[in-house]
Amino acid sequence: MELPPRPELFDFHGISMTHYFTDTWERVQNFKARPDDILIATYPKAGTTWVSYILDLLYFGQTAPDRLTSMPIYTRVPFLEIRHTLALDSGIDLVENLPNSPRIIKTHLPVQLIPKSFWEQTCKIVYVARNAKDNVVSFFHFDRMVLFEPDPGDWKSYLHKFMDGKVIYGSWYDHVNGWWKKKETYSNLHYMFYEDITEDGARELDKFCSFLGLSPSLKEKRQIIDEVQFDNMKQNDMLNYSSFPNMDFTISKFMRKGKVGDWKNHFTVAQNEEFDEDYKRKMKDPTLQFRTEI
Ligand code: PPS
Repeated sequence: MELPPRPELFDFHGISMTHYFTDTWERVQNFKARPDDILIATYPKAGTTWVSYILDLLYFGQTAPDRLTSMPIYTRVPFLEIRHTLALDSGIDLVENLPNSPRIIKTHLPVQLIPKSFWEQTCKIVYVARNAKDNVVSFFHFDRMVLFEPDPGDWKSYLHKFMDGKVIYGSWYDHVNGWWKKKETYSNLHYMFYEDITEDGARELDKFCSFLGLSPSLKEKRQIIDEVQFDNMKQNDMLNYSSFPNMDFTISKFMRKGKVGDWKNHFTVAQNEEFDEDYKRKMKDPTLQFRTEI
């Protein structure tokens, strides 16, 4: 089947976007969240699938194990703002047809574009953030292999596009800061770091459960920690996106490396210095600190 050309970026409410994520905007804006909906928000490639799976196991691992083996994660945890494709319904349709409760919903929207009903219903929201250097590396490889993302070009030019916010969902710097600031006024928001989960999954799971008001047994928690190991998820066809349309796995994998510090294999010394300088100018809030190695 012939693929449509890669889409162009355009400015959408001040954010770089492609039509794949704005075509259903009217419906996204008017989306009616339910009070028990759980929203997982991230900048792309920050660990969305990892935390989606943790949530899915916490809520349904014991009560509906069949769904883990019969439904790919992108239908269990629909991507709110994505339009329909030939192979898949829109995110909104998938969410609205979910039979389960709570519904777990994924979004990459920056905080200012979240549909207002999530705030009105005081839904639980989990935000996952990943250090900028590993995030841009992961995003670069993703854009190479996902044929409905804009053409990333070469690594050098991509790094500049990322620094300028000229990639889908705009500036990483604004995204992580916007959500961080939101914590001050919205208490039902749990902000997690990819690096912390890598460092100590059990500790992070405990914090997460306390936010969610869940108290799984020690055995369940151990099972979850084991299930969500990178190698297990990579081999699981319900999680590794192998069935997702328009991804070219010969170029790169969705579950690629799953590491903290892979940026060191991509940044030159000069790129690293330039990136750090620019980072200092953009990341002024001393309370928001990322680790690029653990
Ligand atoms: S997306 O497309 O935005 O939803 O992608 P997202 O799931 O946010 O991010 C994909 C990256 O997360 C890594 N990943 C993991 N790392 C460690 N452990 C586990 N279990 C895990 N699951 C997913 C995945 O490999 C991508 O990162 P990179 O660095 O590209 O490997």
